[in-house]
Amino acid sequence: MHYTIAVLCLLVSFHCCFSVPASPRDYKLFADLPKCSTEEDQLSDCVKHIFNTLTPRLKDGNEELKIPPYEPLVLNRTSFQYSSGNVNGRITMRNAKLSGFSTNVAKEVNVKLKDGKVKLRMVTFMPKLNIAGHYKADLQVNQLQLKPKGEFNVTLTNVEATTITDGEVYEKDGHRFFRMKNIDSNPKIGDLHIKANGIFQDPELDQIALNVANQYWRDIYGIMLPETRQYWQPLLLRMFNEALELVPIDGFLKD
Ligand SMILES: *[C@@H]1O[C@H](CO)[C@@H](O)[C@H](O)[C@H]1NC(C)=O
Ligand SMILES: *[C@@H]1O[C@H](CO)[C@@H](O)[C@H](O)[C@H]1NC(C)=O
Repeated sequence: MHYTIAVLCLLVSFHCCFSVPASPRDYKLFADLPKCSTEEDQLSDCVKHIFNTLTPRLKDGNEELKIPPYEPLVLNRTSFQYSSGNVNGRITMRNAKLSGFSTNVAKEVNVKLKDGKVKLRMVTFMPKLNIAGHYKADLQVNQLQLKPKGEFNVTLTNVEATTITDGEVYEKDGHRFFRMKNIDSNPKIGDLHIKANGIFQDPELDQIALNVANQYWRDIYGIMLPETRQYWQPLLLRMFNEALELVPIDGFLKD
């Protein structure tokens, strides 16, 4: 089930993992968006509006801005080391396709901006997120060595994430950008359903294991989420910052 955690890093991200394009860039794609006043009460609503406008708009990417499509979002390879109690090992997922991020909506946004420092708290909601791909693991469970390998397909419904971040505004190439320094995200899931094969040699045993996992997913998730935070939180921070490097914020801020 470790692979379900890998997606958590993406629950609040609306695009990711892009290389920085060569300038000059053309930002007319954003021309209809409001310019936000930096007055605190107006800034939060304005950022929420921009998030909720850009999230569906950029789902197919944008060639000029070198933003690749993110619906689905493809993760070539993500690997976690896990060690807790009687379970030790590594799990790797390959070619995972994540679908649903374009429906991620900001419900509450609170932004504080002072002296170039930014504090942001955001609650987002995604009705459905599907992750499907290949997995491979090497696990030691008590005295038992397990090397499962196969396909998986996980569906998460009603995903609500509360994310708190702080960061700073900086200048580059005559533009202002925002960079995050810390991020703390708490995703809550309404329901989770796992399909997989290759856990055991025997498909009937697979089905039994999956039935147990699907029945007890809340307990498993409750243990896995904090245990794996050290992996996905830095990944989340890096992905956000890579996305933020693509779009200067002066287009969205009144002077
Ligand atoms: C993912 O894999 C494909 C095909 O192997 C490759 O073309 C692409 O550059 C890879 N993407 C990343 C981000 O590594
Ligand atoms: C994964 O499961 C969902 C829901 O059952 C389904 O819509 C989707 O097509 C499946 N994806 C793959 C790659 O099997």
